Amino acid sequence: MRVAERLEHARALAGAAAALTGLVRRALPAGRPADVLHGVPFGQPAHPALTGLPLGFWTSATVLDFVPGSERAARTLIALGLVTVMPTAATGWADWSALHREQQRVGLAHAASGACAATLFAASLLARSAGRATTGRLLSAGGLAAVTAGGYLGRHLAFPLGAGTSHAEPVTHLAPLGWHDLCQAAELPEGRAVRRRLGYLALVVIREGSGVSALADQCAHLGGPLHQGRLESAGGGSCIVCPWHGSTFRVADGSVVHGPATARQPAFEVRVSESGVVQVRPGKPRPSPG
Ligand code: FES
Repeated sequence: MRVAERLEHARALAGAAAALTGLVRRALPAGRPADVLHGVPFGQPAHPALTGLPLGFWTSATVLDFVPGSERAARTLIALGLVTVMPTAATGWADWSALHREQQRVGLAHAASGACAATLFAASLLARSAGRATTGRLLSAGGLAAVTAGGYLGRHLAFPLGAGTSHAEPVTHLAPLGWHDLCQAAELPEGRAVRRRLGYLALVVIREGSGVSALADQCAHLGGPLHQGRLESAGGGSCIVCPWHGSTFRVADGSVVHGPATARQPAFEVRVSESGVVQVRPGKPRPSPG
């Protein structure tokens, strides 16, 4: 744990993180391929799901090294791990490029552990193919140690540092039940996002013509202020784009149009009373059009 915490503040990694961020963003501009790598179509990050493949194959291969007569099966599993580590790494780099500084530093060490593990398992496969089975087994054991250390750092990223979890998830639990007066409709500017408070919750409120929409203001990706974002038309509806990393949410229901966010932005039901008061209540997400 102390090593992971030290990595968060390792300034020596700052230069490499900045250079690699530029590289990844140029290689993977915002768009459909980036969304798929983030996991937008699945509603959750793709990287944690994929990590189970190489980890499972390599763990199984190392266990089989203790079972007589399993050399061929172990080799097959190592090869499968090497094949599946490619898409796993691609999803990881896509997510990594939209993390904050401390997360990126831990993410670099996580990626280095994964690369080290892949190299050791590739060397193990080569050694086994050359008839050096004992060397191959030792290299596999080293690979498993590296991938285990990388897994710890990945969980440090996901849990203590909150990469990949929704930063807006508690909102619907904290909002009081029932309808609540929010503000006067007349004070909302046309076509511009503004921030309004509902108790101690912050909402981003958007008026377009006679329609008013309200979402949690804290972006589900890493908590960016959505009310500072821009409005644009995308995915067949009006959307708000987060100013921090460009996650794009449909204002009608908070569904994700573009990542890196994968979790829906909590949406509120909105009505305007006869006296022109905007009222909100925590709403069930409505199915998005298309
Ligand atoms: S905080 Fe990253 S896209 Fe909003």
